[in-house]
Amino acid sequence: MKDIRGIFIPLILLISNSECASFFDLLSSYGPEDSYDIPRKTLPSKNDYDFIVVGAGPGGATVTNRLSENKNWNILLLEAGQPEGIINQIPLSTIAFPAGDYDWGYRLQTDGKSCLGMVDERCTWPRGKSLGGTTTINTMVYTRGNKLDFDKWADMGNYGWDFKNVLPYFKKSEKFRIPGIFDPAYHGYNGNVDVEYPQWRTPFATAFLEAGQTLGYNITDVNGADQIGFSYIQLTSDQGARCSASKAYLRINRSNLDIVTGARVLRILINSRNQAYGVEYEKNGIKYKAYASKEVVLSAGTIDSAKLLMLSGIGPRDHLNQMGIPVIKDAKVGYNLQEHIGFWGLSFVVDLPVTIILKRISDSSILLDYIFHRKGPISSPAGAEAIAFMKTKYSEDSRPDVELFLLAAGLNADNGRVFRKGYGITDKVYDAIYKPIEGRDTITILPVGHNPKSRGRILLKSKDPYDKPIINGNFFNNTMDIEVLLEGIKYAIELVNTEPFKKYGVQINSLKVPGCEKFEFGCDDYWRCAIRQIPLMENHECGTIKMGPKNDPNAVVDPELRVYGIDYLRVVDASVMPVIPVGHITADVYMIGEKGADMIKYTWQ
Ligand SMILES: Cc1cc2nc3c(=O)[nH]c(=O)nc-3n(C[C@H](O)[C@H](O)[C@H](O)COP(=O)(O)OP(=O)(O)OC[C@H]3O[C@@H](n4cnc5c(N)ncnc54)[C@H](O)[C@@H]3O)c2cc1C
Ligand SMILES: *[C@@H]1O[C@H](CO)[C@@H](O)[C@H](O)[C@H]1NC(C)=O
Ligand SMILES: *[C@@H]1O[C@H](CO)[C@@H](O)[C@H](O)[C@H]1NC(C)=O
Ligand SMILES: *[C@@H]1O[C@H](CO)[C@@H](O)[C@H](O)[C@H]1NC(C)=O
Repeated sequence: MKDIRGIFIPLILLISNSECASFFDLLSSYGPEDSYDIPRKTLPSKNDYDFIVVGAGPGGATVTNRLSENKNWNILLLEAGQPEGIINQIPLSTIAFPAGDYDWGYRLQTDGKSCLGMVDERCTWPRGKSLGGTTTINTMVYTRGNKLDFDKWADMGNYGWDFKNVLPYFKKSEKFRIPGIFDPAYHGYNGNVDVEYPQWRTPFATAFLEAGQTLGYNITDVNGADQIGFSYIQLTSDQGARCSASKAYLRINRSNLDIVTGARVLRILINSRNQAYGVEYEKNGIKYKAYASKEVVLSAGTIDSAKLLMLSGIGPRDHLNQMGIPVIKDAKVGYNLQEHIGFWGLSFVVDLPVTIILKRISDSSILLDYIFHRKGPISSPAGAEAIAFMKTKYSEDSRPDVELFLLAAGLNADNGRVFRKGYGITDKVYDAIYKPIEGRDTITILPVGHNPKSRGRILLKSKDPYDKPIINGNFFNNTMDIEVLLEGIKYAIELVNTEPFKKYGVQINSLKVPGCEKFEFGCDDYWRCAIRQIPLMENHECGTIKMGPKNDPNAVVDPELRVYGIDYLRVVDASVMPVIPVGHITADVYMIGEKGADMIKYTWQ
């Protein structure tokens, strides 16, 4: 019943505002008031706990749930953000989240090599700030890393992380609800995270799969035995409503668990014997301390976990010295930052009137279809429909190195109001390439590189915990990352030139991206230029607290996720990934959460 309530309130808002506000304006202005029924405490009920978990994303929520299964342990979960609201339940709202209320508001540093068509030449770097972390705002695509990704992690000395050993944890977290022929060896049916097909699909999804077959690829289960091929998208959603990490793991009412939101951890407390024993945090302007007799588990995500370690004296010696932070442990924190970068600028105008555009979404029959049946385009995260993983000529092993991601929408979908702003696209770029196609049905194919060679770095701006960190994405520093994308663009164009797409009158949007006018549209140098102007970030950042064996000078945590040189401190989130896996990484973070929780249980039981 509570989910139905969640859908009625937006309806009332929409009807009462239909004259003056659009759906998208409402989405962007809707605040985080609703608690969504997770029992919370205003403040911790005690001073001393067995475990303190910092951050409630897929890493932290999973660990919190599993550790609190043991009734003899007292757990405190501290989350800086608020619970997700009704708005987060509605998949289409994903287009309004970057730079909104549930976002930390980070942006990349300028580097003159990327994000040139973004405001201030800076890409936005959205990170969820709420119970559920970034899964309350993300695009909900469910894919796992390639088998070889995990086997390579293990080859690097990370025992227990090979595919055979991690597969059970993927299955443990998954509640696979897609009917049809899927290999049960690869799916879990009783886990916490709902996985389903979108409740809405346009004929372009099927055209995409058929076009793939025309080019000789298989239609596959993207999470099954063969990752290479074409698939309909699988989503972390529950009958058309988002399934976030908090919905999946934190709708629990356990007397040994305190969940406190709006509590921002400022540093980890570490004693003179290099043992973590608690945290300092702030809520409503007041500073507090909380103590953990067993472990502190850091799950604040790739940016903030690295930041918190550095604020606590664990990080590169020279950098901490510069910041005036006493060094407890010299460690390569903040290095090895990896991300999946793609390209926004490959849009196609189509004849079939079915894609996500403002006037259609605002139609009352579409709203009612969502309210009463949770179907239709509002149940879709930005029109995400289908996905392909392919190998380019540059691929070095059996893994795909490029993804093609089909959206039944374009950045013109909402006439420039919020979608493109969340990513930082300037008026100049928008007006040149998207404004002229406003109101036209559009599909977008996002090519994305999945084996990036460039590495970025996160640094502190100062020792003030409220300062945003400095994020050097360093995208395209290795120009191979552009060449792979160029191959992806060529595949995408080849695809839409096949019969399954042609019948819908698909035409490439050939307006030139500002800054690249001197190149002929569609030649290689044009694309290389355009990629640097408007890259797409998938926000799969990871790697800043690298996991590795003791002899790896760049490793910060060991293969059991314990911080080297500090006792009773683990990191359980995307930051520990030594190398970014293929695919959208939330499924991998849930796996890390499940596996990390088991490691902690093994230590203390
Ligand atoms: C716009 C967007 C779209 C995406 N789409 C997809 C997708 O379709 N599929 C997919 O698989 N992945 C997607 N991702 C990526 C995915 O959501 C993340 O990789 C994943 O959520 C990372 O999990 P995490 O636990 O490491 O960190 P997070 O989910 O970021 O969670 C960290 C939590 O810690 C909290 N925190 C941070 N600092 C503090 C502090 N000092 N004190 C207390 N709490 C703190 C944060 O508020 C947050 O709640 C997307 C990301 C974005 C931004
Ligand atoms: C949680 O459990 C306690 C004790 O069983 C009960 O009093 C309380 O109402 C429950 N809270 C919620 C939100 O279900
Ligand atoms: C398609 O699937 C078959 C059977 O699994 C496999 O042998 C073949 O290599 C696949 N083709 C491609 C292009 O991946
Ligand atoms: C960028 O690329 C250059 C040339 O390949 C390399 O020397 C440099 O180390 C790279 N910079 C970073 C920060 O990785």
